[in-house]
Amino acid sequence: MSKPTSVLLLLIVLAALSFHGGQSRSLTLNNIDIHEVGDENERPTEKKKEEAAVVVLTQNNFTEFVNQNKYVMVNFYAPWCYWSRRLAPEYEAAAPMVAGEAVLAKVDASTENRLSYRYKVNGYPTVIFFVGGVRKEDYYSERTRGEIAKWVQKKVEEYGPRATITTEKEVEPVLVTASA
Ligand SMILES: *[C@@H]1O[C@H](CO)[C@@H](O)[C@H](O)[C@H]1NC(C)=O
Repeated sequence: MSKPTSVLLLLIVLAALSFHGGQSRSLTLNNIDIHEVGDENERPTEKKKEEAAVVVLTQNNFTEFVNQNKYVMVNFYAPWCYWSRRLAPEYEAAAPMVAGEAVLAKVDASTENRLSYRYKVNGYPTVIFFVGGVRKEDYYSERTRGEIAKWVQKKVEEYGPRATITTEKEVEPVLVTASA
């Protein structure tokens, strides 16, 4: 073998090695990619929160719903009203922020005449906070997701711990306390 030929062979070997190195690097990158995708799927709590949306109420299910859920904020809106439209996306975004503490609901006051009459809704949007089915306070603060969520959380604290017994899990501690 002449010297130039062996040099050439060495270069080929080096090239092959560096190619292999490149391949293993890309494999590592692939692994990282797969890992990251897996991570994104492993967020059940966040996903659950994202799904908590504004509940639609009509005169057929309004009373039952506000009686069964201790803290319910209701947005009486009109679809054609500018301020109702401005509030809608902020209100939607606030719902998952208070999930587990309170429910954000909405009533189309332009069609739900009986409910609008009962709660004397004269302007849109009218946002009312119900506790145990009773109208407690109207919302007059800033119509941003942050302010809505903060206000609701404050009210939930003000009106005491969740007392509505809805599941057996919540019944249990009451029974334990009673027998102790
Ligand atoms: C109340 O009734 C309306 C109209 O049928 C429905 O769209 C809505 O999902 C109901 N809400 C609840 C909480 O059942």
